[in-house]
Amino acid sequence: MVDIDLYLGDALQELAHLEDNSVDLIITSPPYADQRKHTYGGIHPDEYVEWFLPISEQLLRVLKPTGTFILNIKERVVSGERHTYVLELILAMRKQGWLWTEEFIWHKKNCYPGKWPNRFRDTWERLLQFNKQRQFKMYQEEVMVPMGDWAQTRLRKLSETDLRRDESKVESGFGKNISNWIGRRMAYPTNVLHMATECGNRNHSAAFPERLPEWFINLFTEEGDTVLDPFMGSGTSIYVAQRIQRHAIGIDINHDYYSMVYEATHPKQAFLCEEEKTYAANNHSKG
Ligand SMILES: C[S@@+](CC[C@H](N)C(=O)[O-])C[C@H]1O[C@@H](n2cnc3c(N)ncnc32)[C@H](O)[C@@H]1O
Repeated sequence: MVDIDLYLGDALQELAHLEDNSVDLIITSPPYADQRKHTYGGIHPDEYVEWFLPISEQLLRVLKPTGTFILNIKERVVSGERHTYVLELILAMRKQGWLWTEEFIWHKKNCYPGKWPNRFRDTWERLLQFNKQRQFKMYQEEVMVPMGDWAQTRLRKLSETDLRRDESKVESGFGKNISNWIGRRMAYPTNVLHMATECGNRNHSAAFPERLPEWFINLFTEEGDTVLDPFMGSGTSIYVAQRIQRHAIGIDINHDYYSMVYEATHPKQAFLCEEEKTYAANNHSKG
């Protein structure tokens, strides 16, 4: 049985309830700068860094030294150019003490077609990886992918260079030994994730597809670890964490999302009256 602790309120205030060094993975998609203003509020792009830094300071406090923070974010277009708040945020978070370890790209496979006068349709978002230290927990074997047709064709007939370590011709410092992959059925994935956006809506206009948090939860945690989503929305990260046996902590400022996630993750308590639910929630009842 895993614990599901949900908090209704502003992320900055609610994070203060969490203990230092208590979370293994933070995965979240905060409100976008000014977008979707009518559904759940937005932050002005020029104020985004100032708004987010006190929150990331709390996240730094609650993350274990071996933990990872995955931040889903994408700068919007303002007055004809990409705003720089994401780049500024990365620099400011580095100053705050975070390591900017990696950047994954989420390629949204089902992005609808469109026409803009000076750009093409936007089919990707950033998934920024931050850590507290260079040694963090990572279970790479959990996200391996089938080698596929490439291996069948490429490994059938090996050249002399394929049989030894071949240093990069452009002196990039990267070398490869193709013959190492003979007989293997699985390979490590790349840092580009090809996943469709959530079409089922789940009563939220920007829900993660379940495969997205699942991929990172499998990569950076093991059973019994704790996952935090401080902007949980429809609760995708929370459901996935519960399904694959991780403790989960979720926060959202919106009462409807909070109630929806609460009822889905605490089925026994869904029958309680409103007062009992509030009591159970305020006492951070376990799932
Ligand atoms: C992009 S959505 C998250 C969607 C989520 N990943 C999902 O799968 O449904 C951002 C969420 O942040 C919540 N939110 C906005 N401002 C907040 C704040 N200050 N504190 C906590 N939650 C907030 C919104 O209500 C919204 O549900």
